[in-house]
Amino acid sequence: MDKIIIKGGKKLKGKVGISGSKNSALPILFASLLTDEPVVINNVPNLADINTTLAFLNFIGKKIIKKANSVKILSSLDYKHIAPYDLVRKMRASVLIMGPLLARLKKVDVSLPGGCAIGARPIDIHLEAFKKLGAKIEVSGGYVKMRAENGLMGAEIKLRFPSVGATENILLAAVLAKGKSKIINAAKEPEIEDLANFLNKMGAKIKGAGTKTIIIEGVEKMHGAIHNVIPDRIEAATYLIAAAITKGDIILENVIADHIRAVIEKLKKSGMHIKEYKSKIHIKWIKKLKTQNISTEVYPGYPTDAQAQWTALMSVTDGKSTVKENVFENRFMHIPELQRFGADLIIDGKNVYIKGAKKLSGAPAMVSDLRAGAALVLAGLAAEGESIISRIYHLDRGYELLEKKFKKLGADIKRIS
Ligand code: UD1
Repeated sequence: MDKIIIKGGKKLKGKVGISGSKNSALPILFASLLTDEPVVINNVPNLADINTTLAFLNFIGKKIIKKANSVKILSSLDYKHIAPYDLVRKMRASVLIMGPLLARLKKVDVSLPGGCAIGARPIDIHLEAFKKLGAKIEVSGGYVKMRAENGLMGAEIKLRFPSVGATENILLAAVLAKGKSKIINAAKEPEIEDLANFLNKMGAKIKGAGTKTIIIEGVEKMHGAIHNVIPDRIEAATYLIAAAITKGDIILENVIADHIRAVIEKLKKSGMHIKEYKSKIHIKWIKKLKTQNISTEVYPGYPTDAQAQWTALMSVTDGKSTVKENVFENRFMHIPELQRFGADLIIDGKNVYIKGAKKLSGAPAMVSDLRAGAALVLAGLAAEGESIISRIYHLDRGYELLEKKFKKLGADIKRIS
């Protein structure tokens, strides 16, 4: 299994291009199932989760033509309605197959999902919504089986929590339902807006995406479309924090600063110098940083996907601080690994108490999930000496060309097989 070896202590310097958003690309790729016409998606990052999705679409009955960061999806055969364990277990976002297949085929059987090992991550909000849209649901033999023999009917759906995946799944189903649907307490993440923009290009009638109330007028048919995926805000946040932890000076290119406003504000308050340009951000370390507490929230709050990275940064920053995780239970698998680098961290329920100013020293560490992996890489970049990071397949799920990008910024980092 591949490993990443980092010799820490180098200040990052230079330019880094931010890739297309994984979390935007995934639902957009699944949306291709809503039409038999060709769709073309550009700015798709080359990542394990994307390849899993493309293999999935191919299994269901799509033909995929992939060239660099562009994907063309064509229809070939009749669609299958069963998503087997072997495909679903690799990625939690596989549940996004439910909406489009239910809308198109009126039936879908999906193996219960796997994916990142963070918290319980149930799918009750998705299923409750499909029920409102008229699906009959049965769970048996490890599969969720849904049927809507007379087609889906528009409905008012109030989410008990603004789940990103559930909001996407509802959009993917309700666009072809009969009549009007309304999502109340919808997720407002930029990825929702990107998906809705793409669906509207395909002929859907969605209003209000990006706000907490979304209205969908069902249409009879969707058609082909071309779309460019938005930049990955979490990758961007990770590089910003990398600049801070290495006392660096870097320029992020192809980035939307507004999508990571909460992270930028925390970095500014810590003392990082940040200047925004059209689609670029210049971040520079100019003075010793101050600690900042964070508390993860749904968008536009501080993102849970950048929580582990912030914990790494606060571990080396003078003073005490607290990181509070409100979105997921149990999203602290990086804590024992960061402690191996010498970080002083105590978990107490939803909180991590950090005693900063620790000089981290290189250590062997193991990645438990995607963003935990990013935190370990950041710790390795800041630490004195060599770090060997294993189980990096988690990182390959979400960071395109990770070691190449860091190397270009001057890090001493390499991958070994
Ligand atoms: C998406 C992102 C993930 C990010 C998360 C929160 C993708 C592919 N993944 O995940 O990177 O960390 O948003 O910003 O876009 N929940 C339930 N029942 C449900 C659904 C969710 O209880 O039916 C809970 C989850 O357990 C979790 C919280 O709601 O505690 C947030 O989950 P959700 O917003 O659905 O995240 P994902 O869509 O899985």
